[in-house]
Amino acid sequence: MSLNGKTIAITGASSGIGAEIARLARFQGAHVIGLDRNDPMITLDGFVKIDMGDAAAIDAAVTALPSGIHALVNAAGVSGLADKDVVARVNYLGLRHLTEALLPKIAKGGAVVNITSILGAEWPKRLDAHKGLAATTTWAEGAAWLKKHPVPQDSCYQYFKEALVVWTKKRGYDLFMQRDIRMNSVAPGPVFTPILGDFVQMLGEERVAADAANIKRPAIADEIAPPVLFLCSDAARWVTGINLPVDGGIDALYV
Ligand SMILES: NC(=O)c1ccc[n+]([C@@H]2O[C@H](COP(=O)([O-])OP(=O)(O)OC[C@H]3O[C@@H](n4cnc5c(N)ncnc54)[C@H](O)[C@@H]3O)[C@@H](O)[C@H]2O)c1
Repeated sequence: MSLNGKTIAITGASSGIGAEIARLARFQGAHVIGLDRNDPMITLDGFVKIDMGDAAAIDAAVTALPSGIHALVNAAGVSGLADKDVVARVNYLGLRHLTEALLPKIAKGGAVVNITSILGAEWPKRLDAHKGLAATTTWAEGAAWLKKHPVPQDSCYQYFKEALVVWTKKRGYDLFMQRDIRMNSVAPGPVFTPILGDFVQMLGEERVAADAANIKRPAIADEIAPPVLFLCSDAARWVTGINLPVDGGIDALYV
């Protein structure tokens, strides 16, 4: 898996999983441009400040990015402790907006990888709703759809990760057929990053204790980065529209 000479843009590159993807991508020879609301804590080849919850800020960041990008990794995200509108904007509408706006700058044969979650594993239960939202094409249309189909605060994180899995599949198929760009997602289980405490609070002690009994341990972020970069690489040139669990086996418990 060589990333030599490829330019990869990574949101959320200033912490946790995104930072680890950035570090490994550079080690593999890629030219990495980070996008985050916070300054990076590792050496990158470029950095653009962005608020993924704000369409104008995303458009400004896209203007600042070069053409000929090989891959976009969408790793920025907030937990369900944030207000549900912020979760909708950062984890779904903004991610979609950035991806669509950046497409003209992504080279043919390029790739997009979205970070979903094991907490999005129940997307088939709400498939029709997620397809409805995925069928909207702009931020405004998506926001209007959400106004008509309100999402509860206590399950908003799960809802938008599910929705992201479905959008990745639907749009990933179209992008490959129409533009020769692949789009996939990676679904981590719990990972030791600064956001993990939020998830414990969000899910509650009882659920966390039950989950803990089913897993060996939370992942380290450097166990998530290699599969993400595989999906960015030409080695995955025939893979599009999948949601790859990278979770130490938790996904198998849904069978
Ligand atoms: N850590 C886990 O247990 C876990 C499990 C499954 C999925 N995930 C997902 O992985 C992704 C990365 O999470 P992480 O664990 O690295 O968390 P993290 O908190 O360490 O990193 C998240 C990054 O996103 C950035 N970010 C947040 N809001 C932003 C905004 N409005 N604009 C720009 N940047 C913003 C933050 O500044 C931070 O650098 C998220 O999408 C998260 O939902 C995490």
